[in-house]
Amino acid sequence: MSNSAMAGMIPLFFYDPRQIPRYAVDTPACDSFGRRIDYLRVSLTDRCNMRCVYCMPAQGMQFAPRPELLTNEELLLVMRAAAAAGFRKIRLTGGEPTLRQDLVELIRLIKAMPGIEHIAMTTNALRLRHLAAPLKAAGLDRVNISVDSLDPQKFRQMTRGGKLEDVWAGIEAAVAAGLQPIKLNAVIVRGMNDDEVVQLANLTTQYPWEFRFIEVMPLTGVTGLAQEGVISSTELLERIEAAFGTLEPLGQASSDPARLYRIPGAPGKIGFISSVTDPFCATCNRMRLTADGRLHLCLLRDEEVDLRAAIRSGATQEQIEQLVRHAVAIKPWGHGLPEGVVPTLRGMSELGG
Ligand code: 5AD
Ligand code: SF4
Repeated sequence: MSNSAMAGMIPLFFYDPRQIPRYAVDTPACDSFGRRIDYLRVSLTDRCNMRCVYCMPAQGMQFAPRPELLTNEELLLVMRAAAAAGFRKIRLTGGEPTLRQDLVELIRLIKAMPGIEHIAMTTNALRLRHLAAPLKAAGLDRVNISVDSLDPQKFRQMTRGGKLEDVWAGIEAAVAAGLQPIKLNAVIVRGMNDDEVVQLANLTTQYPWEFRFIEVMPLTGVTGLAQEGVISSTELLERIEAAFGTLEPLGQASSDPARLYRIPGAPGKIGFISSVTDPFCATCNRMRLTADGRLHLCLLRDEEVDLRAAIRSGATQEQIEQLVRHAVAIKPWGHGLPEGVVPTLRGMSELGG
């Protein structure tokens, strides 16, 4: 096995598809811990039309030059290979996936792909007002939308320029287009939007949406903020219960990281994603594809398998499938935050959440 780390400590794995072990192709891909990995999160671009404080630094962001990004054909090749390896769900992420040209056409082609049963997208919704209906028509099933504040001024600050009005128009368009169930995400940062937790939770008494509170994760560019700003889901639950009374626990759908609750009588649900204080690695079913064509094995670790190099040196779909199966086989158990291991190479905007 040729398994050369790039420069110094960078744990980027280049594999010659002819030299990795041969994996059986008649069973869906499982990792070495017996987890069935069938969910691929595909970052379509590392660029974004916002600059959320918990995602990107204020200055100095360097985006991948366009030739480094996978083309639509290359993306489709990876997805076909992943589908052949047993992947069933695709989520399009970014950066901001709606900045990708030909997004509607791309979704149409993914929808037609044998094996793929579900296509979702995580978006900031700024461009959804006009895109929701065509995306749904092309085959998109659902969207997750970030809404960190209901105050336009604070929203602008946290996203460094986002217009809340446009996000609401995007949410309305998503509802009208039937991109349901709508899930909204807020990353809660102490001293920024933690005073709005009750108001955000209250949305679920008015709308049949799932509102998910996410703990800040220490990815590159925002590690300082994550150390000072993280508020545990336990603390958030206490604050919400102080306002609404005891929440009704709804449990956790399999492989969904959100622990779900309901304000008694509410049409919507509240979810907590406690990536830092209560990791859900045991039920992890996912792998990420960066916009520059690497399979990123665990959100909070640096290890990657380079598919782009293989594709650009002429690998076939069968060879890419073998690399996908290999990436699954060497997927680490989970993150090492409790032991102080933090990822250093990629920011969230390259990994798509
Ligand atoms: N910690 C947790 N979640 C984050 N997101 C972005 N940065 C972070 C972070 N540091 C989430 C946002 C967005 C999704 C793409 O990733 O909620 O919805
Ligand atoms: Fe853009 Fe999403 Fe990152 Fe915010 S969290 S800057 S919307 S990629």
